[in-house]
Amino acid sequence: MSTVNSVIETILAHRSIRRYKRHKIPEEHVDAIERAAQRAPTDATLHLWTAIRVDDNEKRSIIAQEIGQPHVAEASLFYIYTADLYRLYRILEHSKIEHAEDDYALILFAAIDAAIAAENMALAAESLGYGTCFIGAVQNSAATIINLLNLPPKTYPLFGLTIGLPAENPRLRPRLPREMMIHVDEYKDCNPEDLEKAKETMKGISRRRSWIDIIARYAARGGYFDARSREMKKLLGKQGFTGV
Ligand SMILES: Cc1cc2nc3c(=O)[nH]c(=O)nc-3n(C[C@H](O)[C@H](O)[C@H](O)COP(=O)(O)O)c2cc1C
Repeated sequence: MSTVNSVIETILAHRSIRRYKRHKIPEEHVDAIERAAQRAPTDATLHLWTAIRVDDNEKRSIIAQEIGQPHVAEASLFYIYTADLYRLYRILEHSKIEHAEDDYALILFAAIDAAIAAENMALAAESLGYGTCFIGAVQNSAATIINLLNLPPKTYPLFGLTIGLPAENPRLRPRLPREMMIHVDEYKDCNPEDLEKAKETMKGISRRRSWIDIIARYAARGGYFDARSREMKKLLGKQGFTGV
């Protein structure tokens, strides 16, 4: 495979890193990766996200323990990305303008804005030689995080991002075949052979479990995401979001 330039090389070399060396990231690198996040595109200039860098060791270890992910405590940097309509509505109110009635679409777009910013941050960090890992498991501890980080109404923790010097060198992990993920001109449904090919491609994802076992734990009836949806709707309501 020919790599076209160093940006694409960085992107194509991505692996999630879950073991980190003890190391303090120089200020200029922290500055660069935070600026990379800030520079991300944002829908209608709404800036629908806030990232909270958790430097406090105690807060970090509470989160790491609660979600059972030691890399959250061990990484040099840990950010929690939140959906944030609070600041937007404050700006509108400050300008004597009533804010939207229904938050539903804004929450979706906040998740998009936040994900783009975080990926910019992750790629900037990876281009500097650091490893990164997104942490969706913050969902399992969202209520604690809301308290711990003093999140105001109309904000919600979406996911975390760990960054640090890698202390492991995992292989590239598989992805579904490109033709299943990028279609041309119209949606192309999968046939049974495509689905078998998908399973075959993904079978090397883990030595301990099959890919189907992995996705079923999350997306089967009664799996993590059924539980997350229930908890998320409850907490979004508690945080004052409408339309959920
Ligand atoms: C939104 C999101 C949430 C994730 N949550 C976690 C997590 O909570 N813990 C973790 O160790 N990895 C997490 N990951 C990393 C994925 O497990 C990883 O990207 C996937 O297994 C593919 O591996 P790779 O990134 O090394 O290619 C998450 C990734 C994304 C994009």
